Amino acid sequence: MKRTKIKHLLQAETAASSVLVQGWIRTIRASKEFSFIELNDGSCLENLQIIITHTDQFQETLSELTTGSSISVEGIVTESIGQGQKWELKAEKIILLGEADASIFPLQKKRHSDEFLRTIAHLRPRTNKYGALFRIRSTLAQAVHNFFAEKEFFYVHTPILTGSDCEGAGEMFTVATQKTVATQKKDGTSKDFFGKPASLTVSGQLSAEMFALSLGDVYTFGPTFRAENSNTPRHAAEFWMIEPEMAFAGLDDIMQLGQELISFCIRTVQEKNADDLNLFAQFVDKNLTEDLHTLLTKEYARISYTDAVDILIKSNKKFEFPVAWGNDLQTEHERFFTDEYFKSPVIIYDYPKSLKPFYMRANADGKTVAAMDILVPRIGELIGGSAREERYEMLLANMKDLKLSEEEYWWYIDSRRFGTAPHAGFGMGFERLIMLVTGITNIRDVIAFPRTPGNLDF
Ligand code: 4AD
Ligand code: MG
Repeated sequence: MKRTKIKHLLQAETAASSVLVQGWIRTIRASKEFSFIELNDGSCLENLQIIITHTDQFQETLSELTTGSSISVEGIVTESIGQGQKWELKAEKIILLGEADASIFPLQKKRHSDEFLRTIAHLRPRTNKYGALFRIRSTLAQAVHNFFAEKEFFYVHTPILTGSDCEGAGEMFTVATQKTVATQKKDGTSKDFFGKPASLTVSGQLSAEMFALSLGDVYTFGPTFRAENSNTPRHAAEFWMIEPEMAFAGLDDIMQLGQELISFCIRTVQEKNADDLNLFAQFVDKNLTEDLHTLLTKEYARISYTDAVDILIKSNKKFEFPVAWGNDLQTEHERFFTDEYFKSPVIIYDYPKSLKPFYMRANADGKTVAAMDILVPRIGELIGGSAREERYEMLLANMKDLKLSEEEYWWYIDSRRFGTAPHAGFGMGFERLIMLVTGITNIRDVIAFPRTPGNLDF
């Protein structure tokens, strides 16, 4: 018999005759004549209730069925008399697939803290909350692809191993083989596997630009790595980034694209994961439903960096980090705009050139670059992007200022020598998007096996 997913069984219109389900026991309790199992197979939040009549046939198996064990059940779908769900399953045959010793199984039927569940990250997807979270994560990933497919963007796979630092922030992880430890020698005697130092990518942007300047509109969506030693709830050493890049486009185009992408993702989850999302609205963040509504309906505020600094100074608020033109905006400043001043997402654009990487397009004022960040309530920066410096001379000047090697970046510079064109793009942190949609406040709780300073378990 073919296995039926509990999700489909619960949505059925009419009672099916006989079905096979397989899953993990969430709870089991017994009355005099019957035992009741709540079975979950991961396909949805809801459990399927299984009724076992206490006959000789089941006696032996019943004694082995405990919370956490996996079973295979054949039975008849019948209308449920009790409240709650429409269908339940009258068991006719039960096979224990995998036992779970109740005396040591760590997931008992109480609510566990997020901190504890992080220590058993391999089992936490078996809880309601993390089951729901990882179903939503999956929906969001697919929504990203659907969004770009509908807009006719091409999906390019950019390398994870790289020889160039996109952001120039010195946060790259070095990659070396065990036999030949990477050397930084520039005299040609380097024993590095690739013949030169290699790193894990911090962004697929530079490669994506080459494809935008060939195919028009493209995006990448992959893992990125940063050795930032910032142990914050919003930074991970390994995270996923979505990076669209558009040719013949400027800052306005990517601001618009960013807002549309966020809305599309939220709407898709509301449609496809209503039950899962409701769990977060009920137990994780009471304002979630309202917040998501605001995100979908309110136009994002837009202000220049210079105006933002003015507003911060005039606010007379005490900030931990000093506010002055030329200083980077910190999380506390970003949150001031999203959570207090505008109470909506805000796009800040035209940042000081000195704060931004070499590839950003210089504005006519000579002091700022055409950069933009999309900040959202609770999180702060969700998206960072810019128009790219497509002018050959200007790009070279930037690289010289920052002491970047023209030889290393020869291929990137080439794109400005042969048929260069205006183009722009951004990066959206995928985990931060999940935090926005679910109300979860720690990045460690939206990725399967988080990698942060000091943590490489699982
Ligand atoms: O602003 P960032 O550094 O931009 C870039 O890397 C550009 N090259 C992207 C582009 O234009 N194609 O990073 C983009 C986004 C941030 O806004 C943030 O959401 C996320 O990536 N991000 C992180 N997320 C989790 N952990 C970290 N350590 C992150 N660093 C950045
Ligand atoms: Mg940024």
